[in-house]
Amino acid sequence: MSVSTLNVTIRQTENSRIHPLEKDKLVFGKEYSDHMLVCDYVDGAWQTPEIIPYGDFSLSPATSFMHYGQAIFEGVKAYRQPDGSVAIFRPIDNWKRMNVSAHRMGMPDIPEEIFMEGLRQLIELDAAWVPNDAETSLYIRPFMIAMDEFIGVRSSETYRFAIITSPAGAYYNKPVRIYVQDKYVRAAKGGIGYTKAAGNYGASMLPAAEVKKMGYDQNLWTDAVENKYVQEIGTMNVFFIVDGVALTPDLNSGTILAGVTRDSIITLLKENGIPVEERPISIDELIAAQKDGRLQEAFGSGTAASMSFIADLTYKEETLHLPDVNTWIISPKIKKQLDEIRYGHVADNHGWRFKV
Ligand code: COI
Repeated sequence: MSVSTLNVTIRQTENSRIHPLEKDKLVFGKEYSDHMLVCDYVDGAWQTPEIIPYGDFSLSPATSFMHYGQAIFEGVKAYRQPDGSVAIFRPIDNWKRMNVSAHRMGMPDIPEEIFMEGLRQLIELDAAWVPNDAETSLYIRPFMIAMDEFIGVRSSETYRFAIITSPAGAYYNKPVRIYVQDKYVRAAKGGIGYTKAAGNYGASMLPAAEVKKMGYDQNLWTDAVENKYVQEIGTMNVFFIVDGVALTPDLNSGTILAGVTRDSIITLLKENGIPVEERPISIDELIAAQKDGRLQEAFGSGTAASMSFIADLTYKEETLHLPDVNTWIISPKIKKQLDEIRYGHVADNHGWRFKV
């Protein structure tokens, strides 16, 4: 492994807030570890990254991202390993995807070294914040915002890249109830659906709140043209097991995020001999499969939620129930294998663990 020459300025906190990280008390996104990484882009160049105590930014109310939404982020996780060390799961893929988002949003690329080595040093310093129990991890949130103090409409000339981290437990603790959304859409062809742009998530808040009120956990988004082809589920990619075949929407439309967890699951499914079809999947096909008893399992996948099993899907007035999750075979097996890799219980044959 090459030795990094990245210059990072580190200012450690004198008042650590570390405390026992009890699994049942970890609420996703509520608490932040002692330090954060901050790196500014000024005059066309990234400056020296700094690792400093976690704290507020002081921002002008005219800061560009607050008005025009040049804001992107990533979700990554670090896992405690059996020997007490820490490994981050596939961060290089998050770095690559962040630059895909940056490109689409007219923002500068982040150099690999700033992302990867900056991240490594941050997690090394805050390693005590990586919890120890099953289903726990340190959630890592890299993000970039447009920083010009300017409300004229044009791409910002200055940016801030930052990484904050937050100890996390399980995201959902029971199978989720899904509403098939045919009034609102998440993304259209030519838009920003394939990016992790903040606006994609902002636009999902109202539809999410509406279905929550109706008793569902998340939306299953459908395509913007016919409201017929399924896309993503809430903030996750989606998989269906039909007749022993794993189906997931393909990425060709540009409306779907290329999930790192999605990619890992596809790899593991194939290694387990499960055929995977990445292709358009219509809600009619799923209804027909459920009626014939061929819709065996379904789940959402993402960094935050890992694999989140689906209890039922409601489309218009009809609720399609999945078989009891205790009878499922494929998804629980893949989840177990994914966890074994993430938590270091098996060899890292795919090169997915990035040692801190
Ligand atoms: C992730 O899975 O990391 C996500 O981006 C979901 C997040 C918005 C909570």
